[in-house]
Amino acid sequence: MSLLEEIPSETFCEACIPVLETKRLAMRAPTLVDAKSVAALANDRRIAENSARIPFPFQVSDAESFIAGANKAAGEFAFLITLHDETVIGVIGLTRAEPSQDLELCLWLGVDYWGKGYATEALHAVIDYAFADLEHKALQAGSRVTNPASRRVLEKCGFQWTGVGLYRIKAINSSAPIDRFRLDRGIWAAIKGWGKNSVSQAV
Ligand SMILES: CC(C)(COP(=O)(O)OP(=O)(O)OC[C@H]1O[C@@H](n2cnc3c(N)ncnc32)[C@H](O)[C@@H]1OP(=O)(O)O)[C@@H](O)C(=O)NCCC(=O)NCCS
Repeated sequence: MSLLEEIPSETFCEACIPVLETKRLAMRAPTLVDAKSVAALANDRRIAENSARIPFPFQVSDAESFIAGANKAAGEFAFLITLHDETVIGVIGLTRAEPSQDLELCLWLGVDYWGKGYATEALHAVIDYAFADLEHKALQAGSRVTNPASRRVLEKCGFQWTGVGLYRIKAINSSAPIDRFRLDRGIWAAIKGWGKNSVSQAV
């Protein structure tokens, strides 16, 4: 029996995952039909070595396990990032390592889609969803100290550096130093409100 047959229907949590749309992107819950596309993108050392839990090599069975386990816990979520023509380009999610902790960001894009502002665009939508719809108080994220693109994306979205730490990186079977970041609800609300109070300058 294949994994597709073993996992019959969506859980209550999966059914609650909305579709988030931005100017160029759509974020939706992954399904097992997406496994091949996810594996084709994620099977790249540059992604695995900058993510905590992505193995390398990354096979279709790894994508099936990820998708089968996604969106099962209340308040946590994982979206597939697609272009509006439905091309799958990456994954973005917020999960908890421990029930008492704030949600932690996981985000990666296929290498062909780097450098086009897609990560920032996707993260804006997911942050809005987490604070406005799910009413979370704070989000956290970690970025390997050798990964300036990830750090820049977090800073562009309002995350603030809180210190350093270590992540266990599955792909290198070792721990690596990371910068830790946090975005609290108050900072998000201030950034969202900033434009409303600005006065346009007379030329
Ligand atoms: C990190 C990642 C998601 C960024 O995706 P992306 O779509 O290229 O990101 P964006 O285009 O929205 O923004 C990237 C920013 O980093 C900057 N950047 C890229 N490489 C950089 C470098 N070597 N040094 C400094 N800044 C860099 C870009 O200039 C851009 O900033 P700008 O808009 O101010 O010019 C992508 O590289 C990725 O998937 N990496 C592997 C997995 C990973 O690192 N995940 C993040 C864990 S939190």
